[in-house]
Amino acid sequence: CGIIARVGSGDAADTLLSGLENLEYRGYDSAGIAVQNGSGVKVHKTSGEVDDLKSTLETRPSGNIGIGHTRWSTHGPPTEENAHPHTDTAGDVAVVHNGVIDNYDELRETLREKGHEFESDTDTEVIPHLIDEYREETGDTEGAIRRAVETLEGSYAIAAIVDGEERVYAARKGSPLVLGLDDSEWFLASDVPAFLDHTDEVIYLEDGDLVVLEPDTYRITDLEGDPVTRAVDTVDWDPEDAGKGQYDHYMHKEIHSQPTALANTIEGRIEDGDVAFEGLAPGSFADVESVQFVACGTSYHAAMDGEQLLRAAGIPTEVVRASEYGTNAGPVDDGTLAVAVTQSGETADTLDAVRTAASRGARTLAVTNVVGSTAAREADDAIYIRAGPEVGVAATKTYSSQAVTLALLTQRLAADVPDATPVKDRDGMLEALEELPQHVERVLEVGRATSLAREYLDSDSYFFIGNGFGHPVALEGALKFKEITYEHAEGFASGQLKHGPLALVTPETPVFAVYTGGDDEKTKTNAIEAQARGAPIVAVGPDDHPLIEIADAHLRVPDTHPVWAGLLANVQLQLLSYHAAKLLDRPIDKPRNLAKSVTVE
Ligand code: G6P
Repeated sequence: CGIIARVGSGDAADTLLSGLENLEYRGYDSAGIAVQNGSGVKVHKTSGEVDDLKSTLETRPSGNIGIGHTRWSTHGPPTEENAHPHTDTAGDVAVVHNGVIDNYDELRETLREKGHEFESDTDTEVIPHLIDEYREETGDTEGAIRRAVETLEGSYAIAAIVDGEERVYAARKGSPLVLGLDDSEWFLASDVPAFLDHTDEVIYLEDGDLVVLEPDTYRITDLEGDPVTRAVDTVDWDPEDAGKGQYDHYMHKEIHSQPTALANTIEGRIEDGDVAFEGLAPGSFADVESVQFVACGTSYHAAMDGEQLLRAAGIPTEVVRASEYGTNAGPVDDGTLAVAVTQSGETADTLDAVRTAASRGARTLAVTNVVGSTAAREADDAIYIRAGPEVGVAATKTYSSQAVTLALLTQRLAADVPDATPVKDRDGMLEALEELPQHVERVLEVGRATSLAREYLDSDSYFFIGNGFGHPVALEGALKFKEITYEHAEGFASGQLKHGPLALVTPETPVFAVYTGGDDEKTKTNAIEAQARGAPIVAVGPDDHPLIEIADAHLRVPDTHPVWAGLLANVQLQLLSYHAAKLLDRPIDKPRNLAKSVTVE
C-alpha cells in the first residue's frame, strides 16, 4: 500500500491525488483521501484505481490538510468499505495505514465492547477507533496517538487527521515513511516519488518516530515524547524520471532506459581493472567466508547470477527465497555475508530474512535501488544499483542493474576473500561490461520481439529454458511473461524439461531457448527434444547460438561475455512480454493482483 499526507496552504486534494498516482506501484485495488477544512473531516474513497477515485469526485473537496491511500489488499477484498482512510464511529479521526496489525482481532473485540462500530474487514480500522477511545479519556490527541501506536502489534506507517485540528499526525514501525520539506508545504509518504514534483528535500523517518505536521512547523518525537533530530537529505532523482515521457507505458520506457541505467550502475565502479564501491574499500570483505543471498521475485533471479559467479570463485554461496529463510536456510555464523537483494528495499519477506540472518550472527549488505529504504538503513552496508525510479510493477531495468551490481560485487569479494579464485576471464568480463549499455541499445533497435509476440500470441503455454547463466534468464523471462500477459508461462533449467514439463509440450507451446555462450550448450539437446514433440523453438542469444540452424526464429543479441549475454537475452524477453501484453490489451503497468513492493509477509 502507499500512503501520503500533505499540509500547506491552498487545497490539498490535487496534490494528494497526484501523489497517490505516483504511489500506485505499491497497490491499486482501491484508493481514498480525507481532507480537513474546518467543517469536519471529509472522506472520499472507492474500489479501483486512483483514476476511478478522481472520476467519483465531481468537484475536488476543499481543505488544506489531507491524507491519502492506495491499497494492495491484505485483510478483506478491495471494496469501498475496505478502502482507506478509515474513521472512528463519529468520523472525527481519519487514518491511512500501510502494514499489518497483528492484534487487530482482540483490539476490535475490546473496542466493540466499549461501543465502537466497525464497517470494514480491515485490520486498519481499529486504529482510528483506538485513537478516539484514548482521546476521549484525556482530550490530548498527540498522547492518544502515542498510546495507540504502543498498543498496536505488527507493522505500520500511519497518517491521521482529526476534526478541528490543523495538523497531520504520523508514526512508523516497520513500514516506510518519508517526510518531504518544501518552502511552504510538508508531505509525508511511503516513498519519495509521491512528492518529487514538489521537493527533493527529505527526512527518512525511523521506527518509533512520531511526527506532527502543522502549517508552519513540524516536530519529530520518540514514543516517550522526547524530541528527536533527523538529518535532511537531498534526493538526486529527477522528477522527469518519474513520468512516462513519449512512451505508452512505464514498462516500455523503463526497458528503453536500460542503457542509461546501466551506465549509471557501472560509473566509477571499475578503476584500473579493479572493482570499487563507495564506502567499501578494497579489503572490506576480507573476513567473509560464505555468502547468502536473500531475495524475492525478479530480485531472486538476479541473485542467482551472483550465486553462480561466487561459486565459480570458490566462495561457498547459497541463494534463498526470502520467504523460505526462516524454515530452510543453510548455516550462518559471523563469517557469513547475508546480501539482501531488493529493488525497493521494503519487501517484508526479504527484510525479515536479513534480520534473521543478522540475529544469527551474519554481517548484512543491502543491494537496492532506493536510498533511505529500510533495507539500506538496517543493513551494515548498502550498495545502490542506481537504476533510477522504476514505476512499472514488472521489474525490468532494476533486474539488469541488480545483475550488473552483483557481478561487480562478486569481483570485489573474489579479490577480498582469502583463498577465493578470480573468476574465469575476469578481465574480459569487465572490459565487455563497458560496452553493455551500447549492446542494450542494439537489442532495443532489433524489433524482432514485436513480430514474434504476434506470431505466437494464441499459444497454449510459453516455456523458457536455459542452463548456467541462461537459467535465471529463463525463469525471469517466464515470470515477466505471466505477470503482464496473464498467459501461462514457465521457466526451467534446460535439463529439467525432460523430467516432467515435457508432458505439456505440444505444437501449441513455443519454447524459448536461452543461450549465453557460457558452457550452456546443454540447452540445445533439450530444445531439440521439445522440437521433436512439435514445439516451435525460438533461439534467444548471440549468433553462435547452437540452435541457430534449426530454430524457427531467433531473438538476436550482440556477441559479448556470457555473463552479459544473459542480460541482453533478458532484454529481448522483456520486449517479447511487453508486446504480447500490449496485443492482449492488458494493463501492463498495473497487472491484476500484484504490487511492486509487497510490504507484508
Ligand atoms: C514483488 C514484485 C516483484 C518483485 C518482488 C521483489 O513481488 O511484484 O516484481 O520482484 O516484489 O521486490 P524487491 O523490491 O524486493 O526487489
